[in-house]
Amino acid sequence: MSADEIDVVIIGGGAAGLMCAATAGYRGRRVCLLEHANKVGKKILMSGGGRCNFTNLDVQPGNYISNNKHFCKSALSRYTSENFIELVERYGVAYHEKEKGQLFCNNKSKDIVNILLEECHHAGVSINTQCKVVGCEKDETGGTDGRFLVETEQGAHRCQSLVVATGGLSIPTMGATGFGYELAKQFGLLCTETAPSLVPYTLHGSWLDIAKSLAGVAMPVTVSCGRYSFFDSLLFTHRGLSGPSILQISNYWNYGEEVTIDFLPSQNIKALLHQWKREKSRAELKNALSKFLPKRFAEKWVSLAASLGVSNKPVNQYSDKEIEALVEHIHHFTLVPSGTEGYRTAEVTRGGVDTDGICSKTMMAKRVDGLYFIGEVLDVTGWLGGFNFQWAWASGYCAGLYV
Ligand code: FDA
Repeated sequence: MSADEIDVVIIGGGAAGLMCAATAGYRGRRVCLLEHANKVGKKILMSGGGRCNFTNLDVQPGNYISNNKHFCKSALSRYTSENFIELVERYGVAYHEKEKGQLFCNNKSKDIVNILLEECHHAGVSINTQCKVVGCEKDETGGTDGRFLVETEQGAHRCQSLVVATGGLSIPTMGATGFGYELAKQFGLLCTETAPSLVPYTLHGSWLDIAKSLAGVAMPVTVSCGRYSFFDSLLFTHRGLSGPSILQISNYWNYGEEVTIDFLPSQNIKALLHQWKREKSRAELKNALSKFLPKRFAEKWVSLAASLGVSNKPVNQYSDKEIEALVEHIHHFTLVPSGTEGYRTAEVTRGGVDTDGICSKTMMAKRVDGLYFIGEVLDVTGWLGGFNFQWAWASGYCAGLYV
């Protein structure tokens, strides 16, 4: 089959692939981007509740999880959130900070996709959608300068640089595939274990009963797993637990591990109960707590305390021993999730192409000249809050400078 000769082929038209394509195109490289879905940037479109949380004002390497915590540093420092904000402002796209440095579009996520498409257009990138890659090979007969042959259902491309920007496994209905991992393995790279992340928990047994009875209740909590803690909102659902605090901690959680929840992080229940005792308050515990907690939760929580031998009664009547039990019950509530909602709803995939095999400056595979990996397909996973897109922009940009 005769192949189209081109400088760079990028597989995957998501955040990282589009950024890499435009950057390389502006350098004068002839770039062809292949996307198997019917349009590019589908995850950008569905992100941030339709308003794309496109970056964060305070991006630090500590916001990322990877077997090599140093790997992300170089790219993040060379393409920062300020750089992306400058691009957004250049296109006149209005945005706002929601909370904790998270920047969202005022209008629609489509504004971000349009910026990237415009950039690709100006940079002369050719974009092929509904284009399934069926195989890639490297021609080693030309020595170290061997080109890649990328075969698609629409024809073949021969290129000097091949960029894998196929993302992770989350939301298969949006086009997610494990193709990037397979390609990595084909070329002798290792992959770390993958798992759905930034994902709600499922519960079983009595914990599920509690969640079901409180479904719809949202409240600020601190959730901890191991040495990591997040203060944010928690949402009880019919299947378990969700909300930003839960999604954040899921990045650090492994199957079978305990999760501890402080349901009253802004108060000290021991101090409150002693204060109420001094004040000789005769309010019932569940009513007194309703000042600080959603009423439905306070009632349920107090009824659950009965299993500890502590009943609902006027707050001035609790013994020191009962107070200690209530402290544990509210500030250190421990449960073991039965699992997660999986890739169907996960925002990201934790794990991926092992960064030990990748140059952190160029994103090129150390042992395969011309083969690059960018974005979520790599073993770099960000926190909730715009960090995953910032990784996609940064890694895509850096690779775009070298392909
Ligand atoms: P991405 O998944 O974006 O792109 C990969 C592309 O490759 C896809 O277009 C896919 O179709 C294509 N592809 C896969 N296999 C292929 C093959 N074999 N051939 C051709 N093409 C192939 N992050 C954030 O920072 N802020 C946010 O607000 C959100 N919100 C959010 C909401 C939801 C619902 C999800 C699922 C995810 C988020 N994220 C997020 C995470 C963010 O979307 C994600 O980290 C980035 O999109 C990753 O960018 P990539 O370009 O690496 O992959």
